[in-house]
Amino acid sequence: MHEVGKINLVDFFPILEKIDLQGIRRQSNIHFGKFFELFDGLINERLEEKRRRCSEKSDILEVILNHSAENPKAIDHNHIKSMFLDLIFAGTDTTITTLEWAMAEILRHPEIMNKAQAELAEVVGKGKPIEEADVSRLPYLQYIVKETLRIHPPATLLIPRQVDQDVELYDYIIPKGTLVLVNVWEIGRDPMFWKDPLVFRPERFQSLELDVRGKDFELTPFGAGRRICPGMPLALRMVQVMLGSMLNSFNWKLEADIEPQDLDMEEKSGFITPKAIPLRAIPYPL
Ligand code: HEM
Repeated sequence: MHEVGKINLVDFFPILEKIDLQGIRRQSNIHFGKFFELFDGLINERLEEKRRRCSEKSDILEVILNHSAENPKAIDHNHIKSMFLDLIFAGTDTTITTLEWAMAEILRHPEIMNKAQAELAEVVGKGKPIEEADVSRLPYLQYIVKETLRIHPPATLLIPRQVDQDVELYDYIIPKGTLVLVNVWEIGRDPMFWKDPLVFRPERFQSLELDVRGKDFELTPFGAGRRICPGMPLALRMVQVMLGSMLNSFNWKLEADIEPQDLDMEEKSGFITPKAIPLRAIPYPL
């Protein structure tokens, strides 16, 4: 993520492509190669299990291997490895960064932590594990995640897209070949739409019928349209359940007795935008 998030001179001077002046392609290939080795091991291990008919699993690897066995031309092992790379690459830092920002904002606003814990205690029971099905009965927890994605969308410019034909949009012509970057970070902080945009206030969603699922263009942390994040349902469930579990299992404070209002909230630039200084929080019994 660090490598591909670097500003690459090749994007501005395509003539440099072959030279790979900053070594970004070389380094990325080394990292991708390590992933592919790991996936090779997992695929071979599973194929061996299947040959010995040890057990029938129902995970994504099993489904795809079965599909590949039926249509080896349509999907081969390289496709499988590239797809897994996509999933890990797109699904890991995005989810963790959202959780880290959510916790940082909660630690900076103790009243929000209290309110979320009170909701969890009432709906789930203090200290009890949270099930995915509980989330629909935890509106305040959902507001916290929405507010986090508004003010700290992990993919601040979504993924670069390229226009494959001339497009007319309102009074603008976007010519074929244009690289389009959508600044959702800025949109989420636009004072024309958001009241007190820089204030972290989950309650704003109580009266706003807005969702993050690509229908409301003021809030599209997962993108929109045909290329919207396919991992969105999984990501939302994971973040909500992880955050809820952390809040319902422990109380939290900042390390070294940092006062909430003094917590550093600087962002680190890159493909994904985490906290510049990683959050360090200390759990203690409820
Ligand atoms: C909070 C967590 C996540 C956020 C904020 C997020 C955000 C995004 C965004 C903004 C895009 C680009 C959409 C566009 O250009 O319109 C994207 C694409 C993608 N995401 Fe996610 N994502 C998250 C989690 C996940 C997870 C958990 C997975 C899978 C396990 C995943 C898989 C993908 C894939 C495969 C793409 C590429 C889709 C394509 O290009 O057609 N994402 N995501």
